Amino acid sequence: MRRAHILGVGHYVPSKVVTNHDLAKIMPTSDEWIVQRSGIRERRFVEESGIGASDLAVPASKLALERAGRELKDVDAIVFCTLSADVEFPGSGCFLQKKLGLPGIPALDVRNQCSGFLYGLSVAKAWVETGTYEHVLLVGAEVHSTGVEFSERGRSVAVLFGDGAGAALIGPSPSPDKGILSVKLHADGSGAEDLWIPAPMSRHNPRLTHEMLDQGLHYPQMNGKAVFRWAVEKMPEVAREVLADTGMSIADIDLFVPHQANMRINQFVAAALEIPQEKVVHNIERYGNTTAATIPIGLSESFAEGKLESARVLTAAFGSGYTWAGAVIRF
Ligand code: ACO
Repeated sequence: MRRAHILGVGHYVPSKVVTNHDLAKIMPTSDEWIVQRSGIRERRFVEESGIGASDLAVPASKLALERAGRELKDVDAIVFCTLSADVEFPGSGCFLQKKLGLPGIPALDVRNQCSGFLYGLSVAKAWVETGTYEHVLLVGAEVHSTGVEFSERGRSVAVLFGDGAGAALIGPSPSPDKGILSVKLHADGSGAEDLWIPAPMSRHNPRLTHEMLDQGLHYPQMNGKAVFRWAVEKMPEVAREVLADTGMSIADIDLFVPHQANMRINQFVAAALEIPQEKVVHNIERYGNTTAATIPIGLSESFAEGKLESARVLTAAFGSGYTWAGAVIRF
């Protein structure tokens, strides 16, 4: 069976920079609290109302295609990973497909939050390796700034998230020793309510009430301490699992691109795996948590810095669901 590979990767972040000091002007928080707890110093927010996840995905997708040396007409399918879809339905993949001018090709939305990109990677890999589709445009994109609460009630979540998009073109590997060597996926729904947006909810009639809005149930609700505990356990676990699957060890890895939820989580994970800091990619200080977009943004920036050249890359993510996943890619 042929092997799938990441042929090109791109990203896009909005131009509006929002610092911790900017946030401290609109709610009770401080640069010191945010940096100490998360490592975040600034994030990007969409410039104005009317910009959705699919809009951020357009320039990210075009850059990924350009770097892959392919054209829009080469895309055979879209996989769009997001928790902040443009609208309740249809999926953002359909909006992106229209904006890219690719009528007729399938567009699948993946709703696996921070692990979304790796869940999507596993689908794209399977499609390419089985010959179902030749080239799959895989996107992770989020607009969080319109969906968090800038108040004392919402501050522990609001300071963590930012807007951005990353994209990768997945296609047949040009050489048998390069490609997506392993992807492993996991979930545990017992933690589903530790990080979620309950409303609107189909389990309630009507789905959205004034009472729900007053309670802020349309904003993310998070048990931060539980998420932290799970993330520092599951990310190293799945990283070891994909390494074992490829017969590699940490010493064989040139670059570790973890999901960017929190600098402290990533320091714990890197320490648990005994990966030297110089091999760990982080940009959370500049972008915050862009959820499904963190890994492709990390890969895209690493590509621009020349770090993907012949590199053996380990990646791992943990997020709402709970879901977690890992992958090893050889460039
Ligand atoms: N600014 C100032 N004070 C704040 C803020 C804020 N933004 N947010 C909360 N506080 C206050 C709280 O009200 C509390 O005050 P109190 O002691 O008077 O009651 C105090 O700070 C401590 O709050 P805790 O919630 O106990 O803070 P904690 O040390 O647990 O840190 C944090 C919170 C940063 C969210 C941490 O739990 C964490 O990193 N969890 C991981 C969550 C995460 O990364 N989520 C991202 C999405 S999931 C993913 O991508 C993996």
